[in-house]
Amino acid sequence: GKKLKVALLGCGVVGSQVIRLMREQAGDLAARIGAPLELAGVAVRRPGRARDVDVDPALITTDAEALVTRDDVDIVVEVIGGIEPARSLILAAMGAGKSVVTANKALLAEDGATVHAAARAGGADLYFEAAVAGAIPLIRPLRESLAGDHVHRVLGIVNGTTNYILDKMDSSGASFSDALEEAQALGYAEADPTADVEGFDAAAKAAILAGIAFHSRVTAADVHREGITEISAADVASAREMGYVIKLLAICARSEDGRSFGVRVHPAMIPRTHPLAGVREAYNAVFVEAESAGQLMFYGAGAGGAPTASAVLGDIVAVGRNLLAGTRGPEESTYADLTVHPMGET
Ligand code: HSE
Repeated sequence: GKKLKVALLGCGVVGSQVIRLMREQAGDLAARIGAPLELAGVAVRRPGRARDVDVDPALITTDAEALVTRDDVDIVVEVIGGIEPARSLILAAMGAGKSVVTANKALLAEDGATVHAAARAGGADLYFEAAVAGAIPLIRPLRESLAGDHVHRVLGIVNGTTNYILDKMDSSGASFSDALEEAQALGYAEADPTADVEGFDAAAKAAILAGIAFHSRVTAADVHREGITEISAADVASAREMGYVIKLLAICARSEDGRSFGVRVHPAMIPRTHPLAGVREAYNAVFVEAESAGQLMFYGAGAGGAPTASAVLGDIVAVGRNLLAGTRGPEESTYADLTVHPMGET
């Protein structure tokens, strides 16, 4: 019977877990999709590097471009991150009609329009559940489950590294730099942790969420952003004394009249009784407020290899099912003509 061949771009914290899960769950995945998955190749920059998973050396290549356009490849999974070469590789894959699963929030937030257009032109699927809040289902609920509702607000903690740092500073009086080192050792931080602590990572995720929630085109440049590097141990301690905890929040909110919205990321004082105050370590939590659904809360592991790989695997299953059924997943929905406020206010 038919096999679905998967090309993996990147074999770091997330990629190695994707390989492990594909291997360990092979039988279940085949049953759920209706065809077995097979790893067609793994493109990496440094083939000799030690990895968290054993990979058949014959599958390793440094020629990602050749891999993504190979005739036998059905699904391309991009977990390299960053703008280039990820964008060129995704566009090449889509140009060759391949469906793409990506965890790349930076790319989708900076140039999602190009990627979505290429998917449309190539007749390919684009799934990106892993791009926002790791294991937590948020993209599919917003794109599909809530497609019949009207979203007013998406608000929460979407960066695990900064939540880990702020939580350690709050609970054990750790210094900013010690807490950051721990988060890096646990595999939560971006390759360049500046993206986490300056709020760029949360801003990219907020842009993606706002785009889907408000059916508008939103880029990272539309997000008013402030990180946590100015927060001192003294700030954390005095917030604590007053019954508050400092959290880095991402807020996507529609205006009263519904014709505009703002997107912002900044540290905020949360009363210790609020559910967001109980979000510890690298966990994420996102509230979605919709007209008919009311308030929904999504909570779970927002970073880390295995949780993020779980979201990637879910997307691979969705794409596999679509390929076998000859259908496609949802396209980008940007019909609304709403104004984005530059300062993130609503
Ligand atoms: N660096 C990110 C975080 C990884 O800490 O949340 C998940 O996107």
